[in-house]
Amino acid sequence: MPFIIAIDGPAASGKGTIARALAAHFGFHHLDTGLLYRATGAKGGDPVTAALSLDASDLARADLRSAEAGQAASRIAAIPEVRAALVDFQHRFAAQEPGAVLDGRDIGTVICPDAAVKLYVTASDQVRARRRAAELGADPEEMLAQLQERDRRDSERTAAPLKPAPDAVLLDTTHLGIPEAIAQAIAQVNKVRG
Ligand code: CDP
Ligand code: CDP
Repeated sequence: MPFIIAIDGPAASGKGTIARALAAHFGFHHLDTGLLYRATGAKGGDPVTAALSLDASDLARADLRSAEAGQAASRIAAIPEVRAALVDFQHRFAAQEPGAVLDGRDIGTVICPDAAVKLYVTASDQVRARRRAAELGADPEEMLAQLQERDRRDSERTAAPLKPAPDAVLLDTTHLGIPEAIAQAIAQVNKVRG
């Protein structure tokens, strides 16, 4: 049975950084599931058709990390049929030996409810906005408003809303540097792996 690590949390909380580091440390596969929604939104046209026809070239687009692509992703991610169209891909990815790390919003709650380890990564709104603004060369105030709007939409939707799984371990990175956050995540996984 592959070892599955589920990482969820709000925008720019550090999920992806932690997920990549865990995958490298343990030799697991890594999927940033946000990219699936970003690529679906960026394809345009009917979002269900776009989701069903995603391929590697869609995920390699240069502009997927932009704030606009994030907003578009969050809008189409509220459509249950879009989410359903992306489930198989995520399940197949998670089934790879020796293990997989998936990060997103609903990995521990919906996609991989039986994951061996579930982390819910958070940080204060201000810190998340500052980090993402630095990354994109954007204005922190504008970024704060954007992230809060996206988090609200992601948390309030009916289909697979953003929320911690009951058995998720909370990891607040507000006052943690990247190496500290990664070390804490590795320690959580080692607790389970023994
Ligand atoms: O994947 P997610 O959107 O949750 O966040 P990320 O892309 O991993 O991290 C957002 C930004 O915050 C990146 O520029 C990271 O380098 C930075 N970061 C940080 O400064 N401190 C942390 N503990 C984690 C991430
Ligand atoms: O990196 P960041 O946290 O800013 O965003 P992302 O993980 O790339 O996700 C972009 C958007 O896709 C989110 O705001 C969600 O609306 C949606 N998403 C989702 O609904 N479910 C997932 N498992 C991953 C992303």
